[in-house]
Amino acid sequence: MVVNIVAGIRSLSSFVIICCCLLSAAGDEMVTLQEVEGTTITLHTGITGIQSDAQIVWFYGREKAEEEIVISQMFKGETFTEISERFKERLQLNRTSGALTIRNISRNHSGVYLLQVITEDLSITEDLSSRTFRVSVYAPVSTPVINVRGKRSGFSTESCSLLCSVENGEDVKLSWYRENERISITNNTDLSVPLNLPLLIQHHEKNTYICVSANPVSNKTTSLSITQLCVHNSGQSEGSALISAVVFVIILISVFVCMWLKKKKQQVPEKAEGLNYADIKVTAHSTEKVKEEELFKILQCEVKNQWCIKM
Ligand SMILES: *[C@@H]1O[C@H](CO)[C@@H](O)[C@H](O)[C@H]1NC(C)=O
Ligand SMILES: *[C@@H]1O[C@H](CO)[C@@H](O)[C@H](O)[C@H]1NC(C)=O
Ligand SMILES: *[C@@H]1O[C@H](CO)[C@@H](O)[C@H](O)[C@H]1NC(C)=O
Ligand SMILES: *[C@@H]1O[C@H](CO)[C@@H](O)[C@H](O)[C@H]1NC(C)=O
Ligand SMILES: *[C@@H]1O[C@H](CO)[C@@H](O)[C@H](O)[C@H]1NC(C)=O
Repeated sequence: MVVNIVAGIRSLSSFVIICCCLLSAAGDEMVTLQEVEGTTITLHTGITGIQSDAQIVWFYGREKAEEEIVISQMFKGETFTEISERFKERLQLNRTSGALTIRNISRNHSGVYLLQVITEDLSITEDLSSRTFRVSVYAPVSTPVINVRGKRSGFSTESCSLLCSVENGEDVKLSWYRENERISITNNTDLSVPLNLPLLIQHHEKNTYICVSANPVSNKTTSLSITQLCVHNSGQSEGSALISAVVFVIILISVFVCMWLKKKKQQVPEKAEGLNYADIKVTAHSTEKVKEEELFKILQCEVKNQWCIKM
């Protein structure tokens, strides 16, 4: 007896499950929506003129719509609408169409949304219509960055090795385009590591290259400036620039030393003559050493001034 009842309940619940499956399979193709986070979206049902005493229920779940997030029904001529804590302040239900508006949607709200409208006919039969939506919410993709790959190995005179990188995210792809034609693409389901895509180009190339990061709702582009990245950073140019700088500094120092030596030779005798006053003063109350030092200081000043004027 007990066994029979349990079996009965089991088959009943199986029947209910099958019914639900049939309903959701028959009623709906799933509508797919891809949205940028922070926007307001409306799940349009295409239903018009829902009876005012109908019960409207929205379900939500990451993979399956299992959690009731909105229940709206008439009771003694008044509508009562309950919204789950998780979606509080964000949801708005249109009781005429069943449409659900979600404000400031976040990636947390990605998932499956299911609407069920239950109306009771005057005859006792129940009529149920449903709609299913799959919503994917994405952050706008980051802008890719192009860098020269390993400065040391970049010492080739022929080619330049580059790397385009971008922060990874859901459904993000990174591509290189040459003259509007895609030449490479990468993606990775491991979101913890950035996406990287290498490119090897010849220095003399005149093609335009762009690196594009994209997800289903946005894309960002960085164009490659060959002259900035490759010519300035290539080993050859770096080396010759360094040599030029060293040569310049050596020449500059030589010129200064020569000028200084020349001035020194010319001016020592002249100044010695014109320094009688200081000479006497110093001798009057000091030693030979102090005199010499004073003389040297004055000479230095003279020399400096002359230079300053000349320069
Ligand atoms: C509810 O939906 C109906 C039909 O789509 C529309 O005409 C009406 O303006 C909507 N009401 C509100 C408050 O948005
Ligand atoms: C939108 O939601 C985010 C969190 O998901 C919150 O930080 C932000 O303040 C909200 N913006 C508005 C305008 O409500
Ligand atoms: C997403 O949900 C988690 C936990 O459910 C919460 O900690 C986090 O703040 C939420 N993020 C946004 C942007 O709403
Ligand atoms: C994304 O990566 C997977 C494997 O990592 C690959 O099978 C798939 O084709 C890639 N998709 C694109 C558009 O590159
Ligand atoms: C990037 O997005 C713009 C719209 O913002 C679109 O016109 C363009 O085709 C997209 N480019 C790529 C490579 O997806």
